[in-house]
Amino acid sequence: MMQRCLELARRALGRTAPNPLVGAVIVKDGAIIGEGFHPQAGQPHAEVFALREAGDRARGATLYVNLEPCNHHGRTPPCSEAVVAAGLAKVVVGMVDPNPKVAGGGIARLQAAGIEVVTGVEAAACQELNEAFVHRILYHRPFGILKYAMTLDGKIATNSGHSAWITGQAARAEVFQLRATCDAVIVGGNTVRLDNPLLTSRQVDGPHPLRVVMSRTLNLPEEAHLWQTAAAPTLVITEPGVKPEFQALLRHLGVEVVELSPLTPAQVMTYLYDRGFLSVLWECGGTLAAQAIADGAVQKVLAFIAPKIVGGSTAPSPVGDLGFLTMPQALPLEKLRWRPVGADLLVEGYLPQTQVSSLE
Ligand SMILES: NC(=O)c1ccc[n+]([C@@H]2O[C@H](COP(=O)([O-])OP(=O)(O)OC[C@H]3O[C@@H](n4cnc5c(N)ncnc54)[C@H](OP(=O)(O)O)[C@@H]3O)[C@@H](O)[C@H]2O)c1
Ligand SMILES: [Zn+2]
Repeated sequence: MMQRCLELARRALGRTAPNPLVGAVIVKDGAIIGEGFHPQAGQPHAEVFALREAGDRARGATLYVNLEPCNHHGRTPPCSEAVVAAGLAKVVVGMVDPNPKVAGGGIARLQAAGIEVVTGVEAAACQELNEAFVHRILYHRPFGILKYAMTLDGKIATNSGHSAWITGQAARAEVFQLRATCDAVIVGGNTVRLDNPLLTSRQVDGPHPLRVVMSRTLNLPEEAHLWQTAAAPTLVITEPGVKPEFQALLRHLGVEVVELSPLTPAQVMTYLYDRGFLSVLWECGGTLAAQAIADGAVQKVLAFIAPKIVGGSTAPSPVGDLGFLTMPQALPLEKLRWRPVGADLLVEGYLPQTQVSSLE
């Protein structure tokens, strides 16, 4: 039943920011009598949809939900009260609220009303589904994912900067899917100049991430796929006072322009946090990727490795200079996973939070 909750929750992937992904199932006599998920911020919570569907039959039933029911008046009344009012006998919770200030409050409210509460069911899967939300709550930053595609000899482009395509169709399809689950995707000015990327999820009804370009110089082309904003929005972030006329041109095309000082990955993450974002995908080249890692703006790494060799002594690699001199300084990835995607290999892992912040 908890897996069913996660399945329902996933239907809103990429649409709930700044809220978590939540699914709920109400079961009576072994049968599901109500289901729901939180579709987006401002909409009712998952429990409310499930309770509505179950109606009077909810009395004496069991509610399964992947995140502790809320206990505070936000944009909607607290779910804990709705669960008590509906007369449920038991609530099975996947994970407690990650916010230390409210953790356990919803559960305590249910228990005070005599409802049996079980917690920690499928806890690891629940934590992973909402890893971006948890990171946002704990660190006041969106969750950063660095994704890159490289050849077997560690190049993300040729000597001349050409990079289309390194991986095959299956890996690229997976990247489109990944973009649909993220709230923003970031590249640097150089990637715009060299690749003219589209950066959408290629899905007809979206969701598409906000496409973000970080550029100090605004030395960018007047025509680019990213300036076509009918399909997906674009935000260019630069430093104060840079090329006002070009800024005006971009705005005229429907591109949002924001000035930040200093223009660093950390500042950009703070800005995107303030905009309510949960997850940010770094699809930049090695220069910006190194800055993002050094700034603690990358939590997870997704490396697509293509079984081909391109060589090139000046061809760029996925991560530029981190200032390390000896191999023990290398950042080890944790919770490592790898799997084939078509003819390519995907390696996934997490950067240890403590190690990264010690770089700052
Ligand atoms: N295979 C892959 O997965 C992949 C992905 C992306 C890119 N690439 C390749 O990577 C190459 C470009 O690499 P790149 O490292 O130059 O990438 P980049 O993604 O363009 O990042 C560097 C650019 O970011 C901008 N920037 C803004 N603030 C910055 C800051 N605080 N620190 C550093 N940069 C900042 C600068 O733009 P301005 O110069 O405009 O000021 C800078 O030139 C291209 O050949 C491209 O094809 C490959
Ligand atoms: Zn709620």
